[in-house]
Amino acid sequence: MCGIVGYIGPKNAYNVVLKGLQRLEYRGYDSAGVALYADDELKICKTKGKVSELVKKCEKENITSGHIGIGHTRWATHGEPNDVNSHPHVSNSGDLVIIHNGIIENYESLKKELTNRGYSFESDTDTEVLINLIEDVKKKENVKLGKAVQVALNQTIGAYAIAVFDRNKPNEIVVARLGSPLAIGVGEDEYFIASDASPFIEFTNKSIYLEDGEMAVVRLGRNIKVRKIKNDKLIEPYVQELQLSLDQIEKAGYEHFMLKEIYEQPEAIKDTYRGRMLPEKGLIRMAGIDDNIEKFLNARRIIVIACGTSWHAGLVSEYLFEDFARIPVEVEYASEFRYRNPIITEDDVVIAISQSGETADTMAAIKIAKEKGAFVFGVCNVVGSSISRETHAGAYTHAGPEIGVASTKAFTTQITILTLIALKLGKQKGEISNSQFHAYLNELDSIPEKIERTLQTNDAVIKVAEAYKKAKNCLYLGRGHNFPVALEGALKLKEISYIHAEGYPAAEMKHGPIALIDEMMPVVVIATKKGHYEKVVSNIQEIKSRKGKIIAVVTEGDTSVKQMADHILEVPDTFEEFTPLLTTIPLQLLSYHIAVMLGKNVDQPRNLAKSVTVE
Ligand code: M6R
Repeated sequence: MCGIVGYIGPKNAYNVVLKGLQRLEYRGYDSAGVALYADDELKICKTKGKVSELVKKCEKENITSGHIGIGHTRWATHGEPNDVNSHPHVSNSGDLVIIHNGIIENYESLKKELTNRGYSFESDTDTEVLINLIEDVKKKENVKLGKAVQVALNQTIGAYAIAVFDRNKPNEIVVARLGSPLAIGVGEDEYFIASDASPFIEFTNKSIYLEDGEMAVVRLGRNIKVRKIKNDKLIEPYVQELQLSLDQIEKAGYEHFMLKEIYEQPEAIKDTYRGRMLPEKGLIRMAGIDDNIEKFLNARRIIVIACGTSWHAGLVSEYLFEDFARIPVEVEYASEFRYRNPIITEDDVVIAISQSGETADTMAAIKIAKEKGAFVFGVCNVVGSSISRETHAGAYTHAGPEIGVASTKAFTTQITILTLIALKLGKQKGEISNSQFHAYLNELDSIPEKIERTLQTNDAVIKVAEAYKKAKNCLYLGRGHNFPVALEGALKLKEISYIHAEGYPAAEMKHGPIALIDEMMPVVVIATKKGHYEKVVSNIQEIKSRKGKIIAVVTEGDTSVKQMADHILEVPDTFEEFTPLLTTIPLQLLSYHIAVMLGKNVDQPRNLAKSVTVE
């Protein structure tokens, strides 16, 4: 969580940093702040609220220029989101200034020691402790800033991506990372620092991604030196050429990123399978799988670890792996997995799914699985992310940047990748015949066009949203492959419209949730033709007889459910295994329109952040 930006060079650092913070606001938006060095003075402006509030405050206070600057947009961990707790934080002498994404776990004991030595603290944050610890080391050991940062970080426990500068030496920024991402944009005569490349992509496509446990002194007129925090060992930095474009991170005429991302799904899915799935040749080729095929074919079981929407994609994959490849699958919340004592062996394949590739719980679970000898395969969207580097092998979803906090295209592209893997393994294991395999590939190839058709039902979805926007609760039911879609639909509604919603396997309704059903309860039921259609129809009747309001997602041309439901939303026919890729779409649109009608902040819902880098 939290976004950090820094700049050093000939441009006005204020403009670069503030624009960068706007791009990183998806990472947290409780408060924002900037530190600039201009006219021999360190100037700081910070405020509770969004970056737009910060812009107003900076303009009012005339803090709008500098050749070096750092900025922060915060998702609060320590201390309530107010002006004082906002970053940047300054050391007691007023010389050093820091921005920090992460948590210093032992900050209380460090704070006590520093207090005993005469330091005082204005805020409740762990970050203010860290900057004073750095100052303390710098003074005591009479060392340069880089060395002081290194020594201080070796006394901390926790996670961080930090940027620090000294007002007495305003030509360098010291950066370090452990557990939180940090990229350095390398320009001609300038450097950028950011949590991801979006703040600097319009200026340079060259980036150095620091690895965990690395730090760098970013100084004008000198090549970047990267060192290990632990032992000061010098490391040759790898300068990566990025493929990201500015268009990809802008709204392109849509009112919200979420809507843009919903509509991008047909193309995103094509990008996911392009070059990997060759229907005319009857082939799926994926380097990460091909290179490790024996591991997958001999796997005793697959364990999927993920959080949130990615966990829902994992649940969909359980049905796919079991159907296509006959491999036993367990799907685990990464946060539970890491704190249990999971039984994992070298014969297990672990698949870690994460859009951001930075989720702290998923990262920790990967480390445990690796320690126990499992082969770990990553499914990430963000190229170069921590999880993509930590795993033994992997496949990118290639969905393009997902900025809306509510995950949409990440979900369907994750399902697409997992479908490709399951089909490939099923074919290699002889569980799927040649003709079936061809049929599956051709059908998968038609999914983007079927999503286009589903998106055309938007007007029907708006009517449903209008009818239920005032609901206080909502149930989502699905069976088989569409049970995880019910969970995902409910999550989408909760997170952006703040309406309480629960997803259930349809048959579970009679074991408790049915008690909630009355004429005030909208129930979204996924009732596509294939699979458990008849059973779901019975569930719909049960709801109907208790006067619940039924919104049914059905296959085009369905007449039976139409007679019972209050509203229907149609999706094209497809193989049962691929229905989640279609049934998800109206549910995403429904939550989107309800949230817009309720005047909620769709792209940045309260209390959430796109990338959850705290436990
Ligand atoms: O980046 P990840 O896929 O690891 O993120 C996992 C969850 O935090 C994420 O899916 C979250 O649940 C979304 N806000 C859901 O829309």
